[in-house]
Amino acid sequence: MHRIAVVAGDGTGPEVIAEGLKVLDAAARRFKFRYETRAFDFGGERYLKTGETLLPNEIEELRSFNAIFLGAIGHPKVKAGVLEQGILLKLRFTLDQYINLRPVKLLPGVETPLKGKGPDDIDFVVVRENTEGLYAGAGGTLRRGTPDEVAVQESINTRKGVERCIRYAFDFCRKRAGKKKLTLCGKTNVLTYAFDLWERTFNEVAAEYPDIETNYAHVDAICMWMVKNPEWFDVIVTDNMFGDIITDLGAMIQGGMGIAAGGNINPAGVSMFEPIGGSAPKYAGKGVINPLAAICACQMMLDFLGEREAAAKVEEAVAKTIKNHIKDMGAGRMGHTTGEVGDLVVKYLAE
Ligand code: IPM
Ligand code: MN
Repeated sequence: MHRIAVVAGDGTGPEVIAEGLKVLDAAARRFKFRYETRAFDFGGERYLKTGETLLPNEIEELRSFNAIFLGAIGHPKVKAGVLEQGILLKLRFTLDQYINLRPVKLLPGVETPLKGKGPDDIDFVVVRENTEGLYAGAGGTLRRGTPDEVAVQESINTRKGVERCIRYAFDFCRKRAGKKKLTLCGKTNVLTYAFDLWERTFNEVAAEYPDIETNYAHVDAICMWMVKNPEWFDVIVTDNMFGDIITDLGAMIQGGMGIAAGGNINPAGVSMFEPIGGSAPKYAGKGVINPLAAICACQMMLDFLGEREAAAKVEEAVAKTIKNHIKDMGAGRMGHTTGEVGDLVVKYLAE
């Protein structure tokens, strides 16, 4: 029995999560596994009513689930940072989801803005460190609002945090049916303390994985290669901030936010799966948002729950849905409503 906590969240979150749950249910019927869900109401609406983001007992409760399925967090009436830090980052940090796994895979039939590139060229995974770096919240401000204002925001990199992320990336690369190539993405020419630690750790760990080819690229160069030669990549490992940035670029080359999903992974605890686009408040409630990213997040969740066959079949059903019905991944341009897209995936899943 898989116990799944569902945090639909803000904006279009509830709409896309509903489609993900439809697919989960269809997968359970077809592949005969049992699951139960429980909804949690964290998000902007609750915050505006009660002033609460996440209560300590709620985080404790979440630890007893096998996975968390998250829609989106972010509300136009709440100051930037409050919900992101109070809910999303709080969950990632407290549940020690130290990996943010973001596949960049162009499915057949999906249009990429990269001219001349196809599904064979765009198929790699970014392993983003998810608990440290610039996201750790270290720093402060002095004399704020005066001409003498000082703002410091520091990147925290621990040997333990860096090493566990790099080890995860090597193991992941070894298991993945890919090119067996791991690229470290950093900025050793400027961030000479942080990425010195990353590079030394990477090289030390690499010695234990002679079957994995390794290389290094600066983050700016990675942005260039992701556009010019995405086929070079198999697995990329990087810090929290660079991982955040390059995975938005990755989402674009795989067809947009409508299809991009990720997992916040604690290999020994509870992991959380989410579409990586935001809450898109301007599309909320209109039935125009693309649910495929949430459905792909559900697919990753199934894989992590050990439902490999179901996960593979969901991916196939998503690919068929796109190939046969969807020209444009963008909100309002799919030619189908949010609900119809979910229904199509369910239909192909049953075949
Ligand atoms: C993401 C998002 C978050 C991040 C924000 C909402 C805090 O952009 O999941 O990539 O920066 O990690
Ligand atoms: Mn991001």
